[in-house]
Amino acid sequence: MSIRIVHTSPYTDQKPGTSGLRKTVRDFQQENYLENFVQSIFNSLGDLSDQTLVLGGDGRFLNQHAIQIIIKMAAANRVRRLMIGQGGILSTPAASCLIRKYHADGGIILSASHNPGGPDHDFGIKYNIANGGPAPEGYTERFYAQSRKISEYRIFESRDLDIDHIGRYRLGETMISVVDPVDDYARLMSFLFDFDLIRKQLASETITLCFDAMHAVTGPYGRKIFEVQLGALPGSVINAVPREDFGGGHPDPNLVHAKALCRKMFSTESPTLGAASDGDGDRNLIMGKHIFVTPSDSLAVMAANAHLIPGYKEGLAGVARSMPTSRALDRVADSFGIDCFETPTGWKYFGNLLDAGKISLCGEESFGTSSNHIREKDGIWAILFWLNLIAIKQESVLQIVHKHWRQFGRDYYSRHDYEGLDRELGDRIIEGLRSRLPELPGKKIASYAIQSAEEFCYRDPVDGSTADNQGIIISFDDGSRLVFRLSGTGTAGATLRIYIEKFEPDPAKHDLDPQSVLADLIGAAEQLCRIRTLSGRPAPSVIT
Ligand code: G1P
Ligand code: ZN
Repeated sequence: MSIRIVHTSPYTDQKPGTSGLRKTVRDFQQENYLENFVQSIFNSLGDLSDQTLVLGGDGRFLNQHAIQIIIKMAAANRVRRLMIGQGGILSTPAASCLIRKYHADGGIILSASHNPGGPDHDFGIKYNIANGGPAPEGYTERFYAQSRKISEYRIFESRDLDIDHIGRYRLGETMISVVDPVDDYARLMSFLFDFDLIRKQLASETITLCFDAMHAVTGPYGRKIFEVQLGALPGSVINAVPREDFGGGHPDPNLVHAKALCRKMFSTESPTLGAASDGDGDRNLIMGKHIFVTPSDSLAVMAANAHLIPGYKEGLAGVARSMPTSRALDRVADSFGIDCFETPTGWKYFGNLLDAGKISLCGEESFGTSSNHIREKDGIWAILFWLNLIAIKQESVLQIVHKHWRQFGRDYYSRHDYEGLDRELGDRIIEGLRSRLPELPGKKIASYAIQSAEEFCYRDPVDGSTADNQGIIISFDDGSRLVFRLSGTGTAGATLRIYIEKFEPDPAKHDLDPQSVLADLIGAAEQLCRIRTLSGRPAPSVIT
């Protein structure tokens, strides 16, 4: 066995986006493409001989192959210790949990999150830092800079390592432990939630559950935690076997892609709680009998009730939401007298606030919620939170949400995505809005008067770092809001996201269809950006 130094030349497109380097499998299959990026990460991390790294992925196509390459490259780069999830599997939250628990210096997570998998779809690679959270921009810029000048990478010449069995191995100077991907994470969950109470109610079928793992990484986590540890009826976890192509599906837990679950939740046989998670286990969808809880509302309900949950009984230090997330959370924070921070889209912006103890709960409208227990959003955690809440309150999801609206008012909310647009068109639309910002305030669109029009720029209250151009916000005089931004995670063309939100304090108007309530604002959005006219698309590709 020896270390081979391979000459390579840079690719120009290895700039990480909202969530790591996400590209098509074909991109990653180009000669040395993966190796270049992994070596760029290693080159940015300094002396690796005293570093421990966690490694795992969501099991999608290329996962196994990439894990073996990274193991050999880690050994050739003299990483001191590697902790790998058995079978190369780790959900994103479980990876974050391991990094924190074992004081690792960081971790490499292989995932393209909710994007489809398989030879014709997507793959991705993310780096998380010692706090367990996504690498902040300083890191990703260094990775990118390294990728632009890379000339060689190092790889151990050896057979593939057996990662299907738990155990300790050695490759060169690198100690390798293959660990159970679920155990440590499940233990952490049992400290945060009242497992005894949930178990009793699941056993007596006071509460029933349907968790759709979408043939993605959370299958084994769901089976072990919900069915084995908490005694949910066998079969409560559906689509539980992870597949390299997610069974041909799109592992994105929303009303469009979690179809089977939605049908069930609106049928007569609906369980108490319906839930789903995405490819790498960090997103969550929450449903009750005949109700879909928008992620922004779910976050607000969690904040309003956190003190009832064992892990949060001291109350919340503060909360945060990504800018396009609805302001339902702000209303709860206001009433509790705690801070509510508004951050750019992407989980990495919560890291400093969590580390500094300024917040203990945070979330995004894109089906992501989590707390200070790790530094990633966490799908299973959110579902356990709701299970625990239902068990304590002995109320249905519908009752909990309706009561919440009665107390705080309802923020009608929807996101319209136009996917796969021409990149140039996406840029042109944002550019067009940007150039008109100064002239918009005071203008009237339909019955709405524009109060302010601005581009969201963030200054991190902890380290003072800034992030510009994080989305266009158009606010109206009745408090309604439109947000326009381009996705930073897509792999093909551009995706325009339009976020539409309107506050309704009157309980008599809380049971309406969001798309109808928001229709005028949706029309105003079209007048402002003209996406339908310019793209020739009569409707968004996805509405959530
Ligand atoms: C999307 C979501 C964002 C989330 C990210 C990673 O990013 O909008 O909230 O953090 O995926 O899951 P976008 O494609 O909008 O840049
Ligand atoms: Zn994800």
